[in-house]
Amino acid sequence: MHLRAEQPADRAAIHAVVTAAFGRVDEADLVDRLREEGSGVVSLVSLDADAAVTGHVLLSRMDAPFRALGLAPLSVLPARQRSGIGSQLVRAALQYSKDLGWEAVFVLGDPQYYGRFGFNAEHASGFSSPYAGPHLMIHALTGSLPVSAGSIAYARPFASLG
Ligand SMILES: CC(C)(COP(=O)(O)OP(=O)(O)OC[C@H]1O[C@@H](n2cnc3c(N)ncnc32)[C@H](O)[C@@H]1OP(=O)(O)O)[C@@H](O)C(=O)NCCC(=O)NCCS
Repeated sequence: MHLRAEQPADRAAIHAVVTAAFGRVDEADLVDRLREEGSGVVSLVSLDADAAVTGHVLLSRMDAPFRALGLAPLSVLPARQRSGIGSQLVRAALQYSKDLGWEAVFVLGDPQYYGRFGFNAEHASGFSSPYAGPHLMIHALTGSLPVSAGSIAYARPFASLG
């Protein structure tokens, strides 16, 4: 498996992979909107041996008391799930974000899944957002957070996601 940054020619394939993973177009359309408005910062694809896109992850800029990204959505083609692609995409995206100088990544998801990558719900509990709760987690890319409380907001297109 090969991972690399999204290229313009990948856009249709990414839309198809995200749609297949979620079983609806909403998250795929969200990826398009985040890209269009420039909120998407890190967008990685996984490729199989035939260079077909098998997975995708997007990280977009957030309003937060420090330089933070939101990881969403994360998608793997249903037929290729549970073979490590999602994990490799998350780990690569975190490294990529750290290399770009971002301080933290928030995610809204299953603590059992994201905990293995160092995301922590307790560390996110001081941040207020409509998504606050046990599924909101944070990963401090620099080892510790400059502050542990404040208000955070995902990029505007997330508001239209049902
Ligand atoms: C979630 C998703 C990206 C995981 O990708 P993947 O390539 O299947 O994941 P990996 O193979 O790297 O990891 C598999 C591990 O995660 C676990 N796992 C997979 N999906 C999970 C989920 N939704 N919740 C909890 N654990 C999950 C598996 O049990 C497995 O655990 P194990 O290593 O202990 O056996 C993929 O299932 C997917 O696209 N789902 C639909 C879209 C979605 O829900 N995205 C996440 C929204 S935040």
